[in-house]
Amino acid sequence: MKHNSRVLSGMRPTGRLHLGHYHGVLKNWISLQHEYDCFFFVADWHALTTHYEDSHIISENVWDMVIDWLAAGVNPGSAQLFIQSHIPEHAELHLLLSMVTPLGWLERVPSYKDQQERLRERDLATYGFLGYPLLQSADILIYGADKVPVGEDQVAHVELTREIARRFNHVYGREPGFEETAIAAIKKMGKKNAKLYKELRKRYQEQGDHEAVEIARALLQDQQNLAITDRERLLGYLEGSGRLILSEPEALLTPASRMPGLDGQKMSKSYDNTISLREDPQAVVQKLRTMPTDPARVRRNDPGNPDVCPVWQLHQVYSSDAVRDWVREGCQSAGIGCLECKQPVIDSVLEELQPLQERAREYEQDRARVRTIISEGSEAARDVARQTLEEVRSVMGLIYD
Ligand code: TRP
Ligand code: SF4
Repeated sequence: MKHNSRVLSGMRPTGRLHLGHYHGVLKNWISLQHEYDCFFFVADWHALTTHYEDSHIISENVWDMVIDWLAAGVNPGSAQLFIQSHIPEHAELHLLLSMVTPLGWLERVPSYKDQQERLRERDLATYGFLGYPLLQSADILIYGADKVPVGEDQVAHVELTREIARRFNHVYGREPGFEETAIAAIKKMGKKNAKLYKELRKRYQEQGDHEAVEIARALLQDQQNLAITDRERLLGYLEGSGRLILSEPEALLTPASRMPGLDGQKMSKSYDNTISLREDPQAVVQKLRTMPTDPARVRRNDPGNPDVCPVWQLHQVYSSDAVRDWVREGCQSAGIGCLECKQPVIDSVLEELQPLQERAREYEQDRARVRTIISEGSEAARDVARQTLEEVRSVMGLIYD
């Protein structure tokens, strides 16, 4: 069942995805798409903020990534898939938000200094890089997303987004005669609901009762005969601010991926320890057979310790309790060899990748279909983005007819 909640997330086009992306991000998207109204996009402008000097490789990466999403099971029938730069409204909202964003808020975002330190070989003392989190805020606010699945490192960006939304609503949400229009809107709900709304508002304003806010929000959602603008007014009136134009999103923290790389570190392209989703099966076998094991287990007769072995971590992801018992026992007693121990993992990875690779091949051979999926997703996204922008321009007084 779909809730009303809208989920939005973006991914920088880094090229072909690997099992770390699959177990960390994609499986999560795939489960969200059944439950929510999902928008997933390729953050190509975000890639530019750090890779402006090799912008020409972005386009290849975009299509590779989209094919991997589809291959993994992200379903264009359930989620809108699109490319950020196809929706120039993101840039317009970014610009307008930049006018009310204090410089200090951006300088304080933890990733700003971190990334500059980490990517020392690139000159990141640019205007675009400083504005990166604000561009992300525009991505989120333009769709009125209320849930944003992100990793730990992105939570601060969602927090910034909430602050920006609040600030924007504070500056632009106070139309003249707000109180009067709000009271008129309450009347439109009918006697019973109007009374309930007023009681809930009082409970919140006088006693800070958050449950009352929740109930009142649900009540407003259910009012079929309220225009969207009236509903927004009443949401704002409820909490004592002006009309809510931009709504505050909430981060949905993606559990850290348990998928280790071939060397036991986090799987990542920069560690050169990945198995890509479209890795040739022979290469998968080869990589797993040659991956390191407990370094103390030199000879077949030496007992080993799974706790210091990267293969054991793969068993945690892929194997049943029974197989894991067999591994622990066999390793510690030197009853099994390392190649034998790896075999169930090899089988599971191949089995997991098989249907994925089959779908990837279909999409690789039908690029037109991939383009259509993206252009349909972009159209749906643009509809929502345009509406938000119209409203934003209007409250800012940027309509000149
Ligand atoms: N900054 C995100 C990352 O590097 C990608 C991203 C861009 C994003 N815009 C977004 C994620 C909006 C969630 C919502 O992973
Ligand atoms: Fe690692 Fe398995 Fe070898 Fe033990 S038997 S060291 S768990 S690969």
